[in-house]
Amino acid sequence: MRDRGSSRIKGFHLLGREERRAALRSALGGVDVGGLLDRGLCADAADAMIENAIGVVGVPLGVAANFTVNGCDVFVPMAVEEPSVIAAASNAARMVRTGGGFAAEADPPVGAAQIEIVDPGPGAAEAIEAARPEILALADAAQPELVSLGGGARGVVVRRDVGGPHRIVVHLLVDCRDAMGANMLNTMAEAVAPRLAEIGAARRGLRILTNLADTRLARASCRVPIRALSRRKFDGASVADGVAAASRFAQADPYRAATHNKGIFNGVDALLLACGNDWRAIEAGGHAYAARGGAYLPLSTWVVDGENLCGRIEMPMAVGVVGGATMCHPIARLCLEILGVETGAELAMVAVSVGLASNLAALAALVSEGIQEGHMRLHGRRSE
Ligand code: MEV
Repeated sequence: MRDRGSSRIKGFHLLGREERRAALRSALGGVDVGGLLDRGLCADAADAMIENAIGVVGVPLGVAANFTVNGCDVFVPMAVEEPSVIAAASNAARMVRTGGGFAAEADPPVGAAQIEIVDPGPGAAEAIEAARPEILALADAAQPELVSLGGGARGVVVRRDVGGPHRIVVHLLVDCRDAMGANMLNTMAEAVAPRLAEIGAARRGLRILTNLADTRLARASCRVPIRALSRRKFDGASVADGVAAASRFAQADPYRAATHNKGIFNGVDALLLACGNDWRAIEAGGHAYAARGGAYLPLSTWVVDGENLCGRIEMPMAVGVVGGATMCHPIARLCLEILGVETGAELAMVAVSVGLASNLAALAALVSEGIQEGHMRLHGRRSE
């Protein structure tokens, strides 16, 4: 991750758009954020990206300030139509940086493709397990470029009796390096499926990645000094206690957990949309992960610990900086440049940090002046 020196530009939100671009250009050491943004995605490029194209739709693109992730200051591009999301994330990041910023980590970029094996013959699961080396080699042969980059098939997991004895599900684990990996996973799944069906004396069913990417989690945490949480009529201790209580509410009630998690996705989706990543995949994986134990739970938790409010988030984050729209969408490339990340893991770490920031901003407003007044005040650019 490229450290931008300081992501805190005082009064950034009060500047005009051109001044803001100039301030950003100078903070980024000369990265030109102007001309390309004005041109945007042209209709010809859109035509090459999707089918039946008739044009492009504009979504506002902004930059959240004040973020420190693992000691690096970063400007976070966010594409979002909802007012106050970027202001709120910047505001929360400002509080978090007083406690040292976000500490984040990401698992190795190993995704899973599912191959459904239907009506297996006797001993099919054991036979597939015994054929692991052959399956891994077959999968790698379908993606030689990934293998040459140091990625490739890493494991075969056989899940028996999924929904009944008529179904085995094979998970092919693949190191996707710095790509989201959907195409690679699906290609490999299709390449190995006929042989798996043959080994299992079965019919092959679906061959597709799973978005419940629980082998590719990212985590972030932060310790916010309680005094940094004070806002207008509310002292820091009451805000901290309120955020911790709101966290317990979300643990206890799926109706609240859904809204709590929506606040997290406000930040995550806006960053991923800006950076050309498949945010629907991350939403699907996040919600499934939230429900993995049978009850739908919040993806983040907040507790008061001494003089600090401590937050933590963990969720699947199969994101990339190569492949898909990250290559062919000029604004996505520019956003990755603004962010200064070089690997998918770095993007994942920023994404969970932004999710935690958006969550803190929402909860702090909810437990104090209320979301309408709190967020609208930020939107009115009268705070700081
Ligand atoms: C609105 O976009 C998001 C919130 O509803 C999140 C939450 O309630 O935690 C404010």
